[in-house]
Amino acid sequence: MELYVLRSKEEIGLEVARRIVERVKENPNIVLGLATGSTPLPTYKAIVKYSLSENVSYKNVTTFNLDEYVGLDENNNQSYRFFMNDNLFKYLDFGTTSHHFPSLENISSYDEEIEKYGGIDIQILGIGSNGHIAFNEPFTDIKEKTHVVKLSENTIKDNSRFFNSIDEVPTKAITMGLETILKSKEIILIATGKNKSVAVKKMLEGTYDPSCPASSLNLAKCKVHIYIDDECYEGMK
Ligand code: F6R
Repeated sequence: MELYVLRSKEEIGLEVARRIVERVKENPNIVLGLATGSTPLPTYKAIVKYSLSENVSYKNVTTFNLDEYVGLDENNNQSYRFFMNDNLFKYLDFGTTSHHFPSLENISSYDEEIEKYGGIDIQILGIGSNGHIAFNEPFTDIKEKTHVVKLSENTIKDNSRFFNSIDEVPTKAITMGLETILKSKEIILIATGKNKSVAVKKMLEGTYDPSCPASSLNLAKCKVHIYIDDECYEGMK
């Protein structure tokens, strides 16, 4: 694991976007694994900025999102498909069939589909305040592939900030499993803000602790880059 501490979430966004855009230029058929939530927003904004100013094409890029709520269709502005269209996809020249999201329909073939495209070249991750990655909550089996999860109370509470009320937050989601994520060829995890400090500290201890799913990244065979901001770092002391 390689740790980078940068001043702000905006700086992280610029740095991670630079890395990704360079990789898209090198390999126009790249397969990207994408996260939603507030953390990757500065990265997506910077990817759009660099890609448009440098005329980078996404026509042959394939994307696989980590997760999706059960029960929200793509027109619902809280669905992750809506989020991705709104913050990244609509600005770039992706093909109409470039994007993949896990659903109740494709749940048993999602991992195979990823394999069919040659696997995920770069997987972007955020982290929950309880250490979850994608929607793999504490004590998820490390051998899980894409599966349905019941969201923990902690995650429902954290995510209620995006909804009008906590009652509107779906209680279930479909998520790539830890095994799916660990198969990626390169992983970039971003954590910004003080509320991530405890989880990040645990992840950086260097061993796998099932109470912190992000610590499973210590078992990854690929390169894992962890980007945190000063605020998250200060909270770890
Ligand atoms: C979303 C996802 C989640 C988030 C995590 C942090 O696709 O995989 O694991 O990364 O819940 O969310 P934010 O970034 O909103 O703090």
